[in-house]
Amino acid sequence: MKIDLYARCWNERDMLPFFFLHYDKIVQRYIIYDDASTDNSQEILRLNPKVELRPMPPYSDPESRIRSALALQETCWRESRGIADWVIITDIDEHLYHPDMYGYLAQCRAQGVTIIPALGYQMLSEHFPEHKTLLCQSLTRGACDLVYSKLGIFSPNEIDAVNYTQGRHSAAPKGRVVLPARDELLLLHYHYLGFERVRKRNAQFVTRQRKNDIAMGWGSEYSLSSKQLREVWNLIASRLVDISQPDLRPWETHGGPRWWRPPYLLRYWESDETPPWYSLPSMRRRRSIPVVLHSLISRVLKPCLPERLLKLLRKFKAPAPSSTEARVQGRIRRRLEVQSKGKASHEFSYEDALSLLDRLGIDPSQSREGSMPLASLQFMQSHFDRLDTSRPIIALHVGNFLGVSLAYLVHTLRRLHPDSRVVSIDPNLTHRGIPRTMETVLALLNYFGLEDRVAILTGYSLEKNVSNQGEIFAGYDPVANWENERSCTHQLDLLNALARGVFDLCLMDGNHDGDYLQRELDRVRQLLRPGGLLVLDDVSTAWPEIQWFFNSISPDQFQKLSTDDRIGLLVRS
Ligand SMILES: C[S@@+](CC[C@H](N)C(=O)[O-])C[C@H]1O[C@@H](n2cnc3c(N)ncnc32)[C@H](O)[C@@H]1O
Repeated sequence: MKIDLYARCWNERDMLPFFFLHYDKIVQRYIIYDDASTDNSQEILRLNPKVELRPMPPYSDPESRIRSALALQETCWRESRGIADWVIITDIDEHLYHPDMYGYLAQCRAQGVTIIPALGYQMLSEHFPEHKTLLCQSLTRGACDLVYSKLGIFSPNEIDAVNYTQGRHSAAPKGRVVLPARDELLLLHYHYLGFERVRKRNAQFVTRQRKNDIAMGWGSEYSLSSKQLREVWNLIASRLVDISQPDLRPWETHGGPRWWRPPYLLRYWESDETPPWYSLPSMRRRRSIPVVLHSLISRVLKPCLPERLLKLLRKFKAPAPSSTEARVQGRIRRRLEVQSKGKASHEFSYEDALSLLDRLGIDPSQSREGSMPLASLQFMQSHFDRLDTSRPIIALHVGNFLGVSLAYLVHTLRRLHPDSRVVSIDPNLTHRGIPRTMETVLALLNYFGLEDRVAILTGYSLEKNVSNQGEIFAGYDPVANWENERSCTHQLDLLNALARGVFDLCLMDGNHDGDYLQRELDRVRQLLRPGGLLVLDDVSTAWPEIQWFFNSISPDQFQKLSTDDRIGLLVRS
């Protein structure tokens, strides 16, 4: 396993010995961009034979140190493609940690994991530690900090773009994005080491901020007064945990939302749960001119300007809000959401659903190939004139994957009758290499305000079956994982016990085995009212068993209505 590490360096003489002690065991090559250090960092770097020392390239935004750093970190790792299994993007004071780091990375690689976000901890010590100690063993007390939960390790061969936000505090990776099942990796941020040293270092950093950094409030923590820094310090000190405890279980105990887990759209700045050291008076209400201008354009001028001018304005990217600014915006947004309760926040459209999935980091080829196509959903909808819309329509949907056809159905039926309801069944398995698909389904339904019209049964329609029709996808072997796949079973029988004969419509797109489908339809027939509509996906040459089944179905059971060579429509006899 080969690991390349990319970092920037500016006067890190103090921290470099700890850094190398921590990473030397696993890293084969360090690519360090030195930003004109004036202490002896460069000499220390040259002494390590694994280091490729490079000068920091000219700033891509001469007015912003932070934006320029981000532009570099967004692309520098690409040279490791085809060379390294993992790349680490980090700062010198960030120690990515797992009790068995090498073993864990090897395991993630074997499981097809491609990104490993780390849970942030602000490590704290009153005194600067002795050199030649492994900090993750000697200085193990830190406070959970979700702002420092960053993406520091990923596969350069599977990820196309990381799409970091400023400071790398969150990301929207694109490519074949596969997360580990739970969050075991930690980011130990060794910044708060020796109060006086931190105060001096902050003062040095203030001098390096450029015009746009100051305007955007980036790095505003460097300008804390001694009193404010002490306040921050004490707050962190009051929340320390020992990360070396064997029962730490960070995936459960590290609180607050994670940008890579649902609700995905929630970033730390949209949450009330940022650590209190981010809400000190000095960090509040730094409204810079660009931020004010942007909000003026988007809130006030937008309704009045012609579309062509707006298009032009959109080219100028919204400045990312400073953390406190955005937290306030997040709160206001949530308050508005509560006020407009009952209203869908976003009107559903098929295209918007796919682009939301893209933003959630789902591989676009999987979401598009694995979901029913729009044309077939529209074809299905063109038969809804058969439904009695004088009363709420009750529908059953089997096989969710990411929720595209489910959201389409719920949205369409709700338009036909506002009180329509859909019951859905899906076992929440890894499908097409995407784990825990239900989280995405819920994100999609909530985004389009459809969540109050759906009940999801997490289970198999009948007995347990192997996921993905047994096919290995993106390194995930369903047969090898049979024992690990758990869900409820016999959901159709359960429904029959509760609601026999009440369904007006059923869309089947779950298990694609012909015999399984046949037995499912025995149950579905009992669930449907006479005259109820049955929609089968994949009655196509790609799925000959289902096609054959559709063509040869007994009219005593279901009468064929129509097909577009992808879906088949039938009516319950
Ligand atoms: C083809 S995908 C569904 C795509 C979805 N209908 C869409 O168009 O957006 C099949 C889904 O059925 C699920 N599935 C597999 N076996 C199932 C079973 N026995 N009962 C219900 N769902 C099942 C899979 O886990 C997967 O989520």
